[in-house]
Amino acid sequence: MSQRIAVIPGDGIGVEVIREATRLLELVSARRGLDLQLWQLDLGAERYLRDGTTLPPKVFEEIRDTCSAILMGAVGDPRVPSNQHAIDILFGFRFGLDLYANVRPVRCLDDRLSPLKHFGAREIDFVIFRENTEGLYVNVGGQVRRGTPHEIAINEDVNTRMGVERIIRAAFEHAKAQGLTRVHMADKSNAMRHAHELWLRVFREVAKEYPGVEAVHAYVDALAMYMVQDPSQMQVIVTCNLFGDILTDIGAALQGGLGLAGSASLHAAGRIGLFEPVHGSAPPLAGKDMANPFASFLTVGLLLRHLGHAELDALVEGAVRESLVARECTKDVGGTMGTRAAAEGCLARVAKALG
Ligand code: NAD
Ligand code: IPM
Ligand code: MN
Repeated sequence: MSQRIAVIPGDGIGVEVIREATRLLELVSARRGLDLQLWQLDLGAERYLRDGTTLPPKVFEEIRDTCSAILMGAVGDPRVPSNQHAIDILFGFRFGLDLYANVRPVRCLDDRLSPLKHFGAREIDFVIFRENTEGLYVNVGGQVRRGTPHEIAINEDVNTRMGVERIIRAAFEHAKAQGLTRVHMADKSNAMRHAHELWLRVFREVAKEYPGVEAVHAYVDALAMYMVQDPSQMQVIVTCNLFGDILTDIGAALQGGLGLAGSASLHAAGRIGLFEPVHGSAPPLAGKDMANPFASFLTVGLLLRHLGHAELDALVEGAVRESLVARECTKDVGGTMGTRAAAEGCLARVAKALG
């Protein structure tokens, strides 16, 4: 049965890496007879600057009603200082499709990429479950007396029992399904005594349902340190939206940089998911054939896994690993190649592995 995938290249290097990721998806789809229909959408800063369009409700609805997944590059452009288009598009999907689980694997694919002296590919392998629909990202708040010395600026931190419980449960369910034995939950309940007391309480409650999984609570500042000090103890980390944003960039650094970090925003199996690399549009790199396409390749792997093809995720990851080991990669990860050439080399490995 044919499946439709919405493709939104976005801005800056997003356009360059999603171009290559699209080729990967087309290659895998053709060779394995997946019958994926890629629907390229002209949404992003260029379009916004041209005619003011961000994410039209009709387009959103068509994607929601007809697509299995969205593949998206980064959004964000210095010509749009308000970031309006990025907010409408990115949060339009994350919130509009209720994609509450932002799943960001942290896997170091080659020892030489680890920034740590004592930990390499074998030790750095965990996943962060970031709450993706609540917290400080809901944009409830406002400004009063703007521009005056008495200005007030408020962003409310919204945490619902339902929202906290479902992301914590998703982390435990993942651990159980993967045969993992530990879930860390990072909060700031020592300071944020209302919102994060809820997180801690729900974590302890849900943990009781998973006796085979050790539930470790850590304050987020300490956890950020543990991630760097000894990432081998991490298996699954669950945390709120903002902390997850920050911890996943630390996670990216443990993998070898943002050029290697993929991400999936999910609701449930069988429902539409949003797949995007963790990195942004990197304006200084844009248009220079310098961006690492592998974060997007690994993101395509996550997309294929979501569509039920876990073996193709493993195959893509294997090809990326081989490219990295062979140093057929971009400069940020120790190679000398441009975006296009690095992608080309990896696509050849994927083609070979597909047989
Ligand atoms: P960024 O991720 O664009 O860049 C951070 C650093 O990582 C830079 O040094 C950049 O050169 C490097 N980098 C990122 N991706 C890379 C890649 N694929 N290959 C090689 N190097 C890479 O983050 P930023 O500079 O904070 O933000 C730039 C813009 O991107 C902003 O507008 C921001 O809001 C937006 N952004 C969007 C998303 C998204 O849409 N998912 C994510 C993060 C940032
Ligand atoms: C990410 C990004 C976004 C976020 C920005 C662009 C709003 O940093 O996907 O990690 O904070 O979620
Ligand atoms: Mn981020």
